[in-house]
Amino acid sequence: MKRIVLSEKALYRGSLILVNKKSPFRDDICNVPLVPLDEEKDAVLMERQSAGLLNKLIEETNAKDRIIAVSGWRSKAEQADIYEQSIKKNGRKFTQKYVAFPGCSEHHTGLAVDLAENRTEIDFIRPDFPYEGICGNFRGKAAMFGFVERYPRGKEKITGIAWEPWHFRYVGIPHALIMRQREMVFEEYHQFLREHEYSLNPYVCAYGQRNAEISYLRAAEHGDTFMEIDENALFTVSGNNTDGFIITVWR
Ligand code: DAL
Ligand code: ZN
Repeated sequence: MKRIVLSEKALYRGSLILVNKKSPFRDDICNVPLVPLDEEKDAVLMERQSAGLLNKLIEETNAKDRIIAVSGWRSKAEQADIYEQSIKKNGRKFTQKYVAFPGCSEHHTGLAVDLAENRTEIDFIRPDFPYEGICGNFRGKAAMFGFVERYPRGKEKITGIAWEPWHFRYVGIPHALIMRQREMVFEEYHQFLREHEYSLNPYVCAYGQRNAEISYLRAAEHGDTFMEIDENALFTVSGNNTDGFIITVWR
């Protein structure tokens, strides 16, 4: 067995951090490498790994130039600007439904993206991303590349955000597939994982030739959290952005 040290900062980092009104994004500056989604235009940035997978997914859907990214990573200042502009243009009620409060947007993580079907007129806050045609094909493949539709219809009370067919979040594999299969939004998935405590009763999910064991490890009250794991285990750790870590072990 080996001992892994997880710092307090690690609680707020990783591809599974849950960012919403109750749980703001902690870092002032984004701590992940950001890259342009389109090398020729550097307007829309995303975290490097998720950007690569999104481009692959678009390629796999034969959707290059037909599906475009409208908005990716946003600083807190940029979100504040979008929020204020929207209040002026659309009013407070609309804005609270469709624009996360500055500091509480997933766009701060670099792991979220708003997509549009490429047309001459594209709405920045509510881009058109239908369930049919090429966008429907994209949706069908999204989870296989680690992406989920973050704010689906019928889950508005849980997410605190209106139905947003255009907003996708990278959570990785196998998490996206489990969320899709169990029809869970990210808030529900995190709640579900709390019942699967690390080293006691992980949630086991078959993926290809391997099993993924997913579990929750509560963080120490203060300072570092320690975790024991098999010497040669293949695993990833992400903070949950509040009080613990999500451990994914591949066997
Ligand atoms: N439109 C999403 C909720 C955001 O502003 O982060
Ligand atoms: Zn969005």
